[in-house]
Amino acid sequence: MRDMSLRCGGSGQGNHDSDKWRRTAGLAGMTRVIAVANQKGGVGKTTTCVNLAASLAATHRRVLLVDMDPQGNATMGCGIDKMNLERSACDVLLGDETAADTILSAPEGDFSVLPGNEDLTLAEVRLLQDIGREMRLRKALAPVRGLYDFILIDCPPSINMLTVNALTAADGVLIPMQCEYYALEGLSSLLNTIEQVRTTVNPELEVFGLLRTMVDPRINLSNEVSEQLVAHFEDKVFRTVVPRNVRLAEAPSFGRPVLYHDRTSRGAMAYLALAGEVLRREDDRTTTPM
Ligand SMILES: Nc1ncnc2c1ncn2[C@@H]1O[C@H](COP(=O)(O)OP(=O)(O)O)[C@@H](O)[C@H]1O
Ligand SMILES: [Mg+2]
Repeated sequence: MRDMSLRCGGSGQGNHDSDKWRRTAGLAGMTRVIAVANQKGGVGKTTTCVNLAASLAATHRRVLLVDMDPQGNATMGCGIDKMNLERSACDVLLGDETAADTILSAPEGDFSVLPGNEDLTLAEVRLLQDIGREMRLRKALAPVRGLYDFILIDCPPSINMLTVNALTAADGVLIPMQCEYYALEGLSSLLNTIEQVRTTVNPELEVFGLLRTMVDPRINLSNEVSEQLVAHFEDKVFRTVVPRNVRLAEAPSFGRPVLYHDRTSRGAMAYLALAGEVLRREDDRTTTPM
C-alpha cells in the first residue's frame, strides 16, 4: 500500500506538479480533463460523471462529459437515447467524425455530452490494430478542449484500450471507491496502468482523487474501510463522502442528473459538495506560488 501512495504522487510534489500544469494550461487554456476510472463495475463511476458534470455546470463551469463505456449509461443518464445516435464516440475514436460534430447538449443540466454506445466495443477492437491507438481520444478532443473548463470521461469497468485512451487524454484520474471489504482489490492494477500511461504517453497524468461512494455510516465495515483509505492515501481522498441515496439510483431512469430530480436530496448535496471540493483543489493548484 505504501508503494501505491507513492505512485499517486504525494502532496510533496504539489509545487512541481502545478508548475507542470501551469505550463500545459498556457497552451491548452485552463481546461482540466478528468478520467473517472475503476475497473470494478458498480462503484459509482457513471453516477459520479453525470452528477459531477451537472454540479460543476450549476456553478457556471463549462463542462463536457465523454462517454467511453459501451454500456452508454452516462449517455442515457443524461437523457440522451444511446440507440438513436447519429454520431457517437465510436466514430470520433475511429476518426470518422469530429468531436465538435458529435457533441450534444444534455437535455437537462447545462453541459455537453460526447455520447457513447455499444459501438465503442467495435472501436476498441479496431483500435487494437492501430499505431498511435492510445492517442486517439486525446487528439480528437484537442480542437474542442479549450471550449470547456472541465472534461469528465466516464470509463468502462475494465482496463482496456478505451480506458487507456481516456487516461492518455486526461490530466487527472478520479477513482470512485465503494467502501467494502474488497474495495482495494484491483486498485493496484489501476495504479500500475496509470503509472504505465504516465511513463509512456502522458507524463502529466496524476491521481486527482479517490472518492468514497455509496457510503452507509451505519455499517461499521464501511467506516473502517473509509478510514483505511484516508490512512493510506491521505489528502488524495476527497473529504466529500457520497452516501447511499435512493434519489441517486432513481435519477438515471428519468434521464436526468439528481440535481434536476431532487435537488434537496442527500445525493444532490453530496455531488454539489464534491464540485466545490474539485474547484477548491483547482484553485489551490493554480495559486500555488512558483
Ligand atoms: N450513492 C449512491 N446511492 C445509491 N445508489 C447508487 C449510488 N451511486 C450509484 N448508485 C447506483 O449503483 C449502480 C452502479 O452505479 P454506477 O454509477 O452505474 O457504477 P459504475 O459506473 O461504476 O458501474 C447504479 O444502479 C447506480 O444508480
Ligand atoms: Mg458505468
